[in-house]
Amino acid sequence: MNALEIRNKFLNYFKNHDHKIIPSAPLIPENDPSVLFTTAGMHPLVPYLLGEKHPQGTRLADYQKCLRTVDIDEVGDNRHLTFFEMLGNWSLGDYFKQESIRYSIEFLTKELNIPMEKLSVTCFKGDSDAPRDEETAKIWEEVGMPKERIYYFGKDDNWWIAGDEGPCGPDTEIFYDTGKEPCSPDCNPSCGCGKYVEIWNNVFMEYYKQKDGSYTKLKQRNVDTGLGLERINMLLQGKETPFDTEVFKPVMDKLQELAKNDNIQSRRIVAEHLRSSMMIIADGGRPSNIDRGYILRRLIRRMIRHLNKLEIDLSLLKDLIELYTKVLGEMYPELIENKETIINIILEEKEKFVKTLENGEKELQKELGKLREKNMDTLSAEEVFRLYETYGFPPEVTKEIAEENNFKVDLGAFDKLFKEHQDKSRLGSEQKFKGGLADQSEEVICYHTATHLLHKALQIVLGEHATQKGSNLTKERLRFDFAHPQKVTKEELDEVERIVNEQIQKDLPVTCEEMSYDDAKKSGAIGLFENKYGDKVKVYTIGDFSKEICGGPHVEHTGVLGTFKITKEEASSAGVRRIKAILIR
Ligand code: SER
Repeated sequence: MNALEIRNKFLNYFKNHDHKIIPSAPLIPENDPSVLFTTAGMHPLVPYLLGEKHPQGTRLADYQKCLRTVDIDEVGDNRHLTFFEMLGNWSLGDYFKQESIRYSIEFLTKELNIPMEKLSVTCFKGDSDAPRDEETAKIWEEVGMPKERIYYFGKDDNWWIAGDEGPCGPDTEIFYDTGKEPCSPDCNPSCGCGKYVEIWNNVFMEYYKQKDGSYTKLKQRNVDTGLGLERINMLLQGKETPFDTEVFKPVMDKLQELAKNDNIQSRRIVAEHLRSSMMIIADGGRPSNIDRGYILRRLIRRMIRHLNKLEIDLSLLKDLIELYTKVLGEMYPELIENKETIINIILEEKEKFVKTLENGEKELQKELGKLREKNMDTLSAEEVFRLYETYGFPPEVTKEIAEENNFKVDLGAFDKLFKEHQDKSRLGSEQKFKGGLADQSEEVICYHTATHLLHKALQIVLGEHATQKGSNLTKERLRFDFAHPQKVTKEELDEVERIVNEQIQKDLPVTCEEMSYDDAKKSGAIGLFENKYGDKVKVYTIGDFSKEICGGPHVEHTGVLGTFKITKEEASSAGVRRIKAILIR
């Protein structure tokens, strides 16, 4: 069996058990500003887990493309991956523990023919938030799991939540015994020695964790399961690592053939990062210096460094992409559809990085020469940082080259310098964003004040998350972008409009004060507080209604604004909405 056959078997099995098959959501979440990438099958389904009706019903099954970057630096060992696929079956307030466990065990033992003896399971042991899950353990016994292979663990192992807030609940995990020797007499599924490999997680989602850490019950009881495709494929084929399966092997072998300086870790990094980069680009991701674009850039650049390490000519990158498209095209047709774009973007990024490497290395060699003349043997963090800031030269490459030239490198202070640099550039762009009003006509100034009223009104109606993401003013209208995960309803818009007009009618005075960021923050002003500098900022206060850090200018009294009217509400980008509004004066 191969990965595609396992996927098809899974979807068929659940189709035959009254589940509707839904397509994988893209890796880049469409409506969830809280994550950069889809990290689990539940992201696209959150509204339905919370009670909204899914158009396909209450029993769903899917395969979901996921990308997790927490372990990015571990890739290269024998198990970590950034991109992976999760097979899932879902009950949206339909079946619960009993059926979910019965489906899982039947699929594993009857469809995949895994002997029961190979499996063990874990359940939630209970705490002050939720009881010990004896119900689940009992069902396991009923389906034939011997008591001694049913383990209980706490929240770290047997509780699932994505992030800090959201739908969650106890889970039961199914482990496959690889047959390796136990690491100790206490060896068990949670010890991490590699004897037991987790293959399937069944989450019984009946709680919601609030921001303040407390738990409430959801309207309905859901099941969310995730079966890691690369893992189960590896185990069924009796392979030691996912890189030995048909998903990666053709590329791993090709790299070996091309490498002049072979190294299995570098080959794994290239094979893994190239696959992830191709999948991200196929779903619309592009390299940049921020957020998900930066993750993609890092993946591509790290892959290129390891191609260099393997001494593989970078002109062969295109062939590797073509090979992957052939290997994975049937599983992910989007790779075939977007092949040209994927090639162009990766090659473009390669060109940029090659230049960066060349310029940075020249500069670094100059610096090392100077140190040699002075009989010094350590490259300072400031220098490593300068190379990064001026040439984009990655610190880990600086370190590698310096060490090859017998220099020591002090990276200790690099992180601190890097953080300060980020803070400074953030401050720079915020200042530009907040204070850069080019047109100071009377109309634009009115719209500017109206923007503050709108910002505050949105936070009152939608919640504090509705913060400014951008703004653009002309003499004719204001445009305001703000964070919000879904469409703003007609009722909410009406209420926002009503609140703004109320403040205008009150003819509130607008005053301005200069103060330090700290004081601004203490005063309750909304705005941007990340920086740690003592700079003075202007805070504009509108009556007792709004207080906001801003460069101005503003009107003196709100009464001059006339009548405020929202003309349009639409999506601006993922998780960001846009409102256009006019003042009738
Ligand atoms: N949400 C669970 C997980 O990611 C099961 O799908 O493991």
